[in-house]
Amino acid sequence: MNNNLFSPVTLGLMSLANRMAMAPMTRNRAPEGIPTALMAEYYAQRAEAGLIITEGAQISEQAVGYPATPGIYSEEQVEGWKQITSAVHDRGGHIFVQLWHCGRVSHPDFHGGALPVAPSAIKPAGQACTYTGLQDFVTPRALEFREIPEIVEQYRHAAAMAIKAGFDGVEIHSANGYLLDQFLRDGSNQRSDAYGGSLANRARLLLEVTGAVCDEIGADRVGVRISPVNGFNDMHDSNPQALFNHVAAALSELKPVFLHVVEVSMAGEVDDAVNMQQIRDRFNGLYIANGGYDKVRGNAVIASEAADMVAYGIPYLANPDLIERFRRDASLNTPDMATFYGGDAHGYTDYPALDDA
Ligand SMILES: Cc1cc2nc3c(=O)[nH]c(=O)nc-3n(C[C@H](O)[C@H](O)[C@H](O)COP(=O)(O)O)c2cc1C
Repeated sequence: MNNNLFSPVTLGLMSLANRMAMAPMTRNRAPEGIPTALMAEYYAQRAEAGLIITEGAQISEQAVGYPATPGIYSEEQVEGWKQITSAVHDRGGHIFVQLWHCGRVSHPDFHGGALPVAPSAIKPAGQACTYTGLQDFVTPRALEFREIPEIVEQYRHAAAMAIKAGFDGVEIHSANGYLLDQFLRDGSNQRSDAYGGSLANRARLLLEVTGAVCDEIGADRVGVRISPVNGFNDMHDSNPQALFNHVAAALSELKPVFLHVVEVSMAGEVDDAVNMQQIRDRFNGLYIANGGYDKVRGNAVIASEAADMVAYGIPYLANPDLIERFRRDASLNTPDMATFYGGDAHGYTDYPALDDA
């Protein structure tokens, strides 16, 4: 019989109860970057997912780009995350933290007036979310060649801190227009050194980061997220199929346990279409599909073996018991966009489960 969303799967060292992942979602409820007890409640409510991938967690102060997002580089942050990992593990769940550097998608307000950093000094169209509201993006500062090794080391350090905090592993965020994606795509990377130009050069930083993180915590605890067609954050590439085919094949040699692919565009103009099957075929680990899936499409993509798991974002945000609802073919709660980013328990931990009624 073919597998479906409810079939177990082995992911690295772990046996997952099902093939549904909770996609990473920033919720801006970590004042001063420290994870809270409320966050532990939110993630624990969703622990029935085969795998939870947390919201993006910044790897350094320089990595910050939004208000009240959690960090994963200081001892205080590790202590905060411990509440979350233990609450999820107590419920039999598995949880990876997403390692995040916003790069140019930030604002001087987060950096004592200093410019955000990027591969090249190219200002994205759009606005940053700051503590004083939306403000136009600025032209970022291009990273010096000599600064790049330190960023690789910050990813390594964050991965070690993740294990210390009790996470089962990490997802390297190389999607959605943040720093690693900015290096990959030629709309944001026009460097002339070893980190720009050819596909190999543009993929170099992601590969160095993945190599360092795999070396630090073991490749079977490491996943990578990419978004080949996502125009969000003013991202473009002249040949996304060639780029992401190269990325998938090159990553595969480092043996991270999964490649998590945002298959849709969340905003912005879409560049050329990308055939995701070509990406999957070049990667030896598990392929996690994401973007607009429901139960029927999720089951179908797994049955056809085009994906090994499916990650659900907004459906998981609004339905703590998403799996049970899928099992029973029950209706889903309506997501409340007004409470997505920031706020308190409302729109966060108070979405009802079926059996609450
Ligand atoms: C509130 C919200 C926050 C998000 N934050 C992140 C994030 O921190 N990291 C990330 O990689 N994607 C983030 N995303 C994208 C989701 O992971 C996912 O790719 C997107 O919602 C599409 O999946 P869906 O159709 O199942 O919702 C976010 C999406 C939403 C709605």
